[in-house]
Amino acid sequence: MKRLINGFSMAYTDQGQGKPLLLVHGYPLNRQMWAPQILGLSRVARVIAPDLRGHGDSEAVPGPYSMELFADDLAALLDSLEIQQKVICCGLSMGGYAVFAFQRKYPERIAALILTATRAADDTPQARAARDQAAELARRNQLDQIFEGMLPKLLSEGNYHENPELVEQVRSIMRNTSQEGVLGDLAGLKDRPDSRPSLPDIKVPTLILHGADDRIVPVTEAKEMLVSIPNSQLQIIPAAGHLLNLEQPEIFNRAVIGFLSTLESQPS
Ligand code: MLT
Repeated sequence: MKRLINGFSMAYTDQGQGKPLLLVHGYPLNRQMWAPQILGLSRVARVIAPDLRGHGDSEAVPGPYSMELFADDLAALLDSLEIQQKVICCGLSMGGYAVFAFQRKYPERIAALILTATRAADDTPQARAARDQAAELARRNQLDQIFEGMLPKLLSEGNYHENPELVEQVRSIMRNTSQEGVLGDLAGLKDRPDSRPSLPDIKVPTLILHGADDRIVPVTEAKEMLVSIPNSQLQIIPAAGHLLNLEQPEIFNRAVIGFLSTLESQPS
């Protein structure tokens, strides 16, 4: 499905009934990365999974894509779907950064948070330099070089070496990101604000999910968020890396379903 929002055509999946659960993908991915969640969680919730601008089937528009811009796009999609109810926001990695921006701009729209394989800190100088190098490749349209460089880090070592189908699936999802999308993300990622100061302001129930073998965002980042977010809980998923939802979909879905059931008694 597609809707024209904020001046571009946004593709999204809207499946299931019940509490709205917004799934925000990471970089350089799209909503296909949520396939096991769209299937499994739409039995218990209304799953809304957009392709962010420049990704998947959404229109590629020039960047930079700040996390605040992504947050505005998410809010506009909810408006367009006439969802006035509070939503459960789940973001993976860059999707988590966008969820932090959404939480700062639209706190009244949030029922709960699920922070997956993400971090609250902004980029280190080293990370910013790596973004510049990747942007240089993207400008020369050498996107595959970026994707192939990321692939081994996106999965746990075990899954990367022993699950060629999963490796191929992730590769093909990445290849659906446009040049403008990659450039827009890199600029937004590099300049994103430090979300750590706003963590104590998060008052909604928060589930932090992290792969034990995440090679992009170390587990220590998840533990730090747990300490700073008042009403939070952490589940570390074994035999999973950065894309834990694809690597261990049953454990991931069970954790989310358990968390959603704890929200049932709370007003939405
Ligand atoms: C992601 O998975 O969204 C990215 O690895 C985030 C990042 O590079 O900081």
